[in-house]
Amino acid sequence: MAQIIGGIGTSHVPAVGAAIDHNKQNEPYWAPYFEKIAPVRAWVREAKPDVCIIAYNDHASAFSLALIPTFAIGVAATFPPADEGYGPRQVPDVAGHPPLAWHLAESLILDEFDMTIVNEMSVDHGLTVPLSVMFDQPKKWPCKVVPLCVNVIQYPAPTGNRCYQLGKAIRRAVDEFPGDERVLILGTGGMSHQLQGERAGLVNADFDLAFLDRIVTDPAGQSAVPHTDYLREAGSEGIELVMWMIMRGALDEQVREVHRAHHVPTSNTSNGVIVLENA
Ligand code: DHB
Ligand code: FE
Repeated sequence: MAQIIGGIGTSHVPAVGAAIDHNKQNEPYWAPYFEKIAPVRAWVREAKPDVCIIAYNDHASAFSLALIPTFAIGVAATFPPADEGYGPRQVPDVAGHPPLAWHLAESLILDEFDMTIVNEMSVDHGLTVPLSVMFDQPKKWPCKVVPLCVNVIQYPAPTGNRCYQLGKAIRRAVDEFPGDERVLILGTGGMSHQLQGERAGLVNADFDLAFLDRIVTDPAGQSAVPHTDYLREAGSEGIELVMWMIMRGALDEQVREVHRAHHVPTSNTSNGVIVLENA
Protein backbone atom coordinates (compact mmCIF):
# COMPACT_ATOMS: atom_id res chain seq x y z
CA MET A 1 0.00 0.00 0.00
CA ALA A 2 1.00 3.62 -0.43
CA GLN A 3 2.59 5.20 2.60
CA ILE A 4 2.69 8.70 4.13
CA ILE A 5 6.38 9.28 4.76
CA GLY A 6 6.04 12.64 6.47
CA GLY A 7 4.60 16.10 6.39
CA ILE A 8 5.93 19.56 5.66
CA GLY A 9 4.36 22.86 6.64
CA THR A 10 5.72 25.85 4.77
CA SER A 11 4.94 29.43 3.88
CA HIS A 12 4.48 30.01 0.15
CA VAL A 13 5.70 33.59 -0.14
CA PRO A 14 5.97 34.63 -3.82
CA ALA A 15 9.14 36.67 -3.15
CA VAL A 16 10.88 33.39 -2.19
CA GLY A 17 10.00 32.03 -5.63
CA ALA A 18 11.28 35.21 -7.26
CA ALA A 19 14.55 34.99 -5.27
CA ILE A 20 15.08 31.44 -6.55
CA ASP A 21 14.04 32.28 -10.12
CA HIS A 22 16.40 35.27 -10.24
CA ASN A 23 19.38 33.58 -8.60
CA LYS A 24 19.33 35.63 -5.42
CA GLN A 25 19.65 32.81 -2.90
CA ASN A 26 23.15 33.94 -1.90
CA GLU A 27 22.40 37.64 -1.65
CA PRO A 28 22.60 39.13 1.86
CA TYR A 29 18.81 39.60 2.18
CA TRP A 30 18.05 36.02 1.18
CA ALA A 31 21.03 33.92 2.29
CA PRO A 32 19.93 33.62 5.97
CA TYR A 33 16.52 32.25 4.93
CA PHE A 34 17.95 29.75 2.44
CA GLU A 35 20.56 28.60 5.00
CA LYS A 36 17.72 27.84 7.40
CA ILE A 37 15.87 25.68 4.85
CA ALA A 38 18.93 23.72 3.66
CA PRO A 39 18.14 20.84 6.09
CA VAL A 40 14.60 20.70 4.66
CA ARG A 41 16.01 20.20 1.17
CA ALA A 42 18.44 17.57 2.49
CA TRP A 43 15.61 15.69 4.22
CA VAL A 44 13.47 15.70 1.07
CA ARG A 45 16.41 14.48 -1.05
CA GLU A 46 16.81 11.57 1.35
CA ALA A 47 13.07 10.87 1.73
CA LYS A 48 12.53 10.67 -2.05
CA PRO A 49 8.76 11.16 -2.21
CA ASP A 50 7.08 9.77 -5.32
CA VAL A 51 4.14 12.08 -4.91
CA CYS A 52 3.29 15.13 -2.84
CA ILE A 53 -0.25 15.98 -1.79
CA ILE A 54 -0.08 19.76 -1.51
CA ALA A 55 -2.75 21.64 0.41
CA TYR A 56 -2.50 25.21 -0.79
CA ASN A 57 -4.69 28.11 -1.78
CA ASP A 58 -5.13 29.68 -5.15
CA HIS A 59 -4.76 33.48 -5.16
CA ALA A 60 -7.25 34.35 -7.94
CA SER A 61 -5.07 32.67 -10.58
CA ALA A 62 -7.01 29.50 -11.45
CA PHE A 63 -10.23 30.49 -9.73
CA SER A 64 -11.89 33.86 -9.32
CA LEU A 65 -14.83 35.12 -7.33
CA ALA A 66 -16.97 33.53 -10.08
CA LEU A 67 -16.39 30.10 -8.53
CA ILE A 68 -15.13 29.41 -5.00
CA PRO A 69 -14.72 25.73 -4.10
CA THR A 70 -13.99 25.16 -0.42
CA PHE A 71 -11.90 22.04 -1.14
CA ALA A 72 -10.86 21.19 -4.70
CA ILE A 73 -8.73 18.27 -5.85
CA GLY A 74 -6.81 18.33 -9.13
CA VAL A 75 -7.10 15.04 -11.01
CA ALA A 76 -5.35 16.13 -14.23
CA ALA A 77 -2.09 14.72 -15.63
CA THR A 78 -0.52 18.19 -15.84
CA PHE A 79 -0.96 21.54 -14.13
CA PRO A 80 0.69 24.55 -15.79
CA PRO A 81 2.07 27.33 -13.58
CA ALA A 82 0.16 30.62 -13.41
CA ASP A 83 0.32 33.67 -11.19
CA GLU A 84 -1.12 37.02 -10.40
CA GLY A 85 1.04 40.14 -10.77
CA TYR A 86 4.11 39.30 -12.87
CA GLY A 87 2.46 36.23 -14.39
CA PRO A 88 3.60 32.58 -14.36
CA ARG A 89 6.98 31.70 -12.89
CA GLN A 90 9.40 30.10 -15.33
CA VAL A 91 9.19 26.73 -13.60
CA PRO A 92 8.36 23.31 -15.04
CA ASP A 93 4.78 22.17 -15.44
CA VAL A 94 3.59 20.16 -12.46
CA ALA A 95 2.84 16.49 -13.21
CA GLY A 96 -0.27 15.15 -11.54
CA HIS A 97 -1.01 11.64 -10.30
CA PRO A 98 -4.49 10.90 -11.71
CA PRO A 99 -4.87 7.41 -10.19
CA LEU A 100 -4.09 8.61 -6.66
CA ALA A 101 -6.07 11.83 -7.16
CA TRP A 102 -9.18 9.92 -8.31
CA HIS A 103 -8.76 7.45 -5.47
CA LEU A 104 -8.57 10.36 -3.01
CA ALA A 105 -11.62 12.03 -4.58
CA GLU A 106 -13.66 8.85 -4.31
CA SER A 107 -12.51 7.97 -0.83
CA LEU A 108 -12.94 11.51 0.54
CA ILE A 109 -16.36 12.08 -0.99
CA LEU A 110 -17.63 8.72 0.26
CA ASP A 111 -16.08 9.67 3.61
CA GLU A 112 -18.45 12.71 3.46
CA PHE A 113 -15.96 15.43 2.43
CA ASP A 114 -17.60 17.10 -0.56
CA MET A 115 -14.55 17.70 -2.76
CA THR A 116 -14.77 19.64 -6.01
CA ILE A 117 -13.15 17.56 -8.77
CA VAL A 118 -10.99 19.67 -11.08
CA ASN A 119 -9.94 18.33 -14.47
CA GLU A 120 -8.22 21.50 -15.68
CA MET A 121 -6.38 23.87 -13.41
CA SER A 122 -3.30 26.06 -13.32
CA VAL A 123 -1.31 26.29 -10.08
CA ASP A 124 0.08 29.51 -8.62
CA HIS A 125 2.76 30.44 -6.08
CA GLY A 126 0.72 28.75 -3.36
CA LEU A 127 1.83 25.43 -4.85
CA THR A 128 4.96 26.19 -6.91
CA VAL A 129 6.85 28.06 -4.18
CA PRO A 130 6.67 25.09 -1.79
CA LEU A 131 8.01 22.90 -4.62
CA SER A 132 10.93 25.33 -4.99
CA VAL A 133 11.45 25.39 -1.22
CA MET A 134 11.87 21.60 -1.36
CA PHE A 135 13.56 21.07 -4.74
CA ASP A 136 15.21 24.39 -5.68
CA GLN A 137 15.19 24.89 -9.47
CA PRO A 138 15.25 21.54 -11.32
CA LYS A 139 14.53 21.11 -15.05
CA LYS A 140 11.70 18.80 -14.07
CA TRP A 141 10.02 18.44 -10.66
CA PRO A 142 11.26 15.16 -9.18
CA CYS A 143 7.85 14.02 -7.92
CA LYS A 144 4.23 13.99 -8.94
CA VAL A 145 1.72 16.24 -7.21
CA VAL A 146 -1.90 16.01 -6.17
CA PRO A 147 -3.05 19.63 -5.75
CA LEU A 148 -5.55 20.14 -2.97
CA CYS A 149 -6.81 23.67 -3.25
CA VAL A 150 -8.50 25.26 -0.22
CA ASN A 151 -10.52 28.46 -0.16
CA VAL A 152 -8.99 30.84 2.38
CA ILE A 153 -9.57 33.91 0.20
CA GLN A 154 -13.29 34.55 0.45
CA TYR A 155 -15.04 34.28 3.82
CA PRO A 156 -16.12 31.74 5.03
CA ALA A 157 -12.99 29.60 4.91
CA PRO A 158 -13.15 26.08 6.38
CA THR A 159 -12.34 25.82 10.08
CA GLY A 160 -9.04 24.52 11.37
CA ASN A 161 -10.89 21.49 12.69
CA ARG A 162 -12.50 20.76 9.31
CA CYS A 163 -9.03 20.89 7.76
CA TYR A 164 -7.62 18.63 10.50
CA GLN A 165 -10.43 16.10 9.94
CA LEU A 166 -9.85 16.26 6.17
CA GLY A 167 -6.21 15.39 6.82
CA LYS A 168 -7.29 12.34 8.79
CA ALA A 169 -9.56 11.28 5.90
CA ILE A 170 -6.65 11.74 3.47
CA ARG A 171 -4.58 9.45 5.67
CA ARG A 172 -7.28 6.76 5.59
CA ALA A 173 -7.44 7.08 1.80
CA VAL A 174 -3.68 6.91 1.25
CA ASP A 175 -3.40 3.90 3.56
CA GLU A 176 -5.83 2.08 1.25
CA PHE A 177 -4.26 3.07 -2.08
CA PRO A 178 -2.94 -0.05 -3.79
CA GLY A 179 0.48 1.17 -4.85
CA ASP A 180 3.94 1.48 -3.35
CA GLU A 181 4.06 5.28 -3.57
CA ARG A 182 5.96 7.22 -0.95
CA VAL A 183 3.59 10.09 -0.24
CA LEU A 184 4.64 13.38 1.33
CA ILE A 185 1.89 15.73 2.48
CA LEU A 186 2.27 19.50 2.60
CA GLY A 187 0.30 22.25 4.26
CA THR A 188 1.26 25.64 2.89
CA GLY A 189 0.65 29.32 3.57
CA GLY A 190 1.08 31.67 6.46
CA MET A 191 2.63 32.44 8.71
CA SER A 192 1.43 35.72 10.21
CA HIS A 193 0.92 38.24 7.44
CA GLN A 194 -1.49 40.83 6.22
CA LEU A 195 -1.15 42.22 2.73
CA GLN A 196 -3.63 45.07 2.82
CA GLY A 197 -5.52 47.49 5.05
CA GLU A 198 -4.47 49.31 8.19
CA ARG A 199 -2.51 46.40 9.60
CA ALA A 200 -0.59 45.61 6.35
CA GLY A 201 2.84 44.24 7.24
CA LEU A 202 1.66 42.69 10.51
CA VAL A 203 4.05 40.03 11.82
CA ASN A 204 3.49 38.17 15.09
CA ALA A 205 6.45 35.88 15.65
CA ASP A 206 5.20 34.84 19.13
CA PHE A 207 1.97 33.54 17.61
CA ASP A 208 3.88 31.76 14.83
CA LEU A 209 6.32 30.03 17.16
CA ALA A 210 3.47 28.95 19.45
CA PHE A 211 1.66 27.58 16.38
CA LEU A 212 4.77 25.58 15.42
CA ASP A 213 4.99 24.14 18.94
CA ARG A 214 1.33 23.34 19.14
CA ILE A 215 1.00 21.72 15.72
CA VAL A 216 3.63 19.22 16.88
CA THR A 217 2.40 18.45 20.37
CA ASP A 218 -1.28 19.45 20.52
CA PRO A 219 -2.82 19.35 17.04
CA ALA A 220 -6.31 18.66 18.37
CA GLY A 221 -6.08 21.75 20.58
CA GLN A 222 -4.74 23.84 17.69
CA SER A 223 -7.50 22.58 15.41
CA ALA A 224 -10.08 24.11 17.78
CA VAL A 225 -8.61 27.63 17.41
CA PRO A 226 -11.28 29.81 15.77
CA HIS A 227 -10.83 32.02 12.71
CA THR A 228 -11.08 35.16 14.83
CA ASP A 229 -7.91 34.20 16.73
CA TYR A 230 -5.96 33.74 13.47
CA LEU A 231 -7.26 37.04 12.11
CA ARG A 232 -6.57 39.00 15.28
CA GLU A 233 -3.17 37.48 16.03
CA ALA A 234 -1.79 36.54 12.59
CA GLY A 235 -3.46 39.08 10.30
CA SER A 236 -5.99 38.62 7.53
CA GLU A 237 -3.77 36.26 5.50
CA GLY A 238 -2.60 34.39 8.60
CA ILE A 239 -5.79 32.37 8.12
CA GLU A 240 -3.80 30.42 5.49
CA LEU A 241 -2.33 28.49 8.44
CA VAL A 242 -5.50 26.38 8.68
CA MET A 243 -4.10 24.46 5.67
CA TRP A 244 -1.23 23.20 7.83
CA MET A 245 -3.88 21.37 9.86
CA ILE A 246 -4.64 19.20 6.80
CA MET A 247 -1.01 18.09 6.72
CA ARG A 248 -0.98 17.47 10.47
CA GLY A 249 -4.21 15.47 10.36
CA ALA A 250 -2.64 13.05 7.87
CA LEU A 251 0.17 12.17 10.31
CA ASP A 252 0.13 10.03 13.44
CA GLU A 253 -0.98 11.47 16.78
CA GLN A 254 2.69 11.39 17.86
CA VAL A 255 5.19 12.92 15.47
CA ARG A 256 8.89 13.62 15.47
CA GLU A 257 9.98 17.13 14.56
CA VAL A 258 12.85 16.72 12.10
CA HIS A 259 13.50 20.36 11.38
CA ARG A 260 12.04 23.79 11.94
CA ALA A 261 12.91 27.12 10.38
CA HIS A 262 11.45 30.50 11.19
CA HIS A 263 12.58 33.65 9.47
CA VAL A 264 11.39 37.25 9.49
CA PRO A 265 10.98 38.92 7.14
CA THR A 266 10.56 37.46 3.69
CA SER A 267 8.74 40.11 1.72
CA ASN A 268 6.63 41.57 4.52
CA THR A 269 5.67 38.25 6.04
CA SER A 270 6.81 35.87 8.69
CA ASN A 271 8.11 32.67 7.11
CA GLY A 272 7.97 29.25 8.72
CA VAL A 273 8.88 25.73 7.64
CA ILE A 274 8.51 22.52 9.63
CA VAL A 275 9.32 18.90 8.72
CA LEU A 276 7.51 16.14 10.63
CA GLU A 277 7.78 12.35 10.57
CA ASN A 278 5.49 9.82 12.18
CA ALA A 279 7.04 8.88 15.52
C1 DHB B 1 2.51 37.25 -0.22
C2 DHB B 1 1.53 36.54 -0.88
C3 DHB B 1 1.06 35.34 -0.36
O1 DHB B 1 0.13 34.60 -1.00
C4 DHB B 1 1.54 34.85 0.83
O2 DHB B 1 1.02 33.72 1.31
C5 DHB B 1 2.53 35.55 1.50
C6 DHB B 1 3.02 36.76 0.97
C7 DHB B 1 3.05 38.51 -0.80
O3 DHB B 1 2.48 38.99 -1.81
O4 DHB B 1 4.05 39.03 -0.28
FE1 FE C 1 -0.73 33.06 0.17
